[in-house]
Amino acid sequence: MRVVILASRTGWHTDALQRAVAERGHDGAVVSYQGLVARLGTRPGAVACLTSDGASLLDADAVLARIIPAGSLEQIIYRVDALHWLEERGVRVVNSPRAIERTVDKFYTSALLQEAGLETPETVVCERSDDAFHAFRRMGDVIVKPLFGSMGLGMVRVSDEDVAFRVFRALDAIRGVYYLQRAIDHSGSDVRVFVVGGQVLGAIERRAPESPGWRTNVSRGGRARALDLSSTLRDLALRAARAVGADYAGIDLLPARDGTIYVLEVNGIPGWRGLQQATSLDVAGAIVDHLLADRPAVAPTVAVR
Ligand SMILES: Nc1ncnc2c1ncn2[C@@H]1O[C@H](COP(=O)(O)OP(=O)(O)O)[C@@H](O)[C@H]1O
Ligand SMILES: [Mg+2]
Repeated sequence: MRVVILASRTGWHTDALQRAVAERGHDGAVVSYQGLVARLGTRPGAVACLTSDGASLLDADAVLARIIPAGSLEQIIYRVDALHWLEERGVRVVNSPRAIERTVDKFYTSALLQEAGLETPETVVCERSDDAFHAFRRMGDVIVKPLFGSMGLGMVRVSDEDVAFRVFRALDAIRGVYYLQRAIDHSGSDVRVFVVGGQVLGAIERRAPESPGWRTNVSRGGRARALDLSSTLRDLALRAARAVGADYAGIDLLPARDGTIYVLEVNGIPGWRGLQQATSLDVAGAIVDHLLADRPAVAPTVAVR
């Protein structure tokens, strides 16, 4: 089988995925989004052609969208539409572009989690600084998150009115969307659960580097240790992955001091270096096994070739 790993460049994760594909006796190629070439206008009615280095992506048995690289609005929409186009023509794309769209947008993810009956911290998403101020004054202590952020980057905790003024002015200047979430009182640790194919593969507890700290991401210096999940946390993680329709995902669960377990986010393009180092699980292998497993293919919406 031919597996295409879509990324922006090679690195630790793509190496691990390629190794896992090769160990299973298949061909794995890392293809960059920037290198995609679509050719159209050959003959009426013909299926368009999307290639990389001359090879057609329609010939792939599966496409693993490892990331959606940061880029301009045009680049991002084109890349995600290319994934939709492949999927609609019967190529298995994991995670599906729909799941990726839902999970890169913190508004959409939080809305789906809440609607699935999962505890979501009080959150306001808006475009006008007046609305953001109103929400800040009501909540008093908020985490301001980039709508499309990950790895804990660019988040600020704001509990001071003057700081809020400066932060909101900066967001206004870049025409950002305000995502303000009530700061939850917790002990400085949270839980990252890795779900693949409707099963929990493993979990880690992440502790914030500084004390008292609130941000636990391993990429921000958080320390990870393997964790045996209770059935309650396991159930929450599986429900969260289902709510966004992810084939595989990293789910952040935040146990608050008052006993509530919040589902903070579902990451549809998660890294797993911290998890792998703390648990020795074969994460790439599990993802590739799931990718290649027999499952009902997405019905093509057009006849292929
Ligand atoms: N509302 C909150 N209250 C307290 N801590 C939070 C809150 N939201 C996020 N955090 C901390 O910040 C980390 C990153 O937040 P998250 O929403 O997962 O964003 P990212 O996509 O950047 O990982 C979380 O793992 C948690 O440790
Ligand atoms: Mg997170």
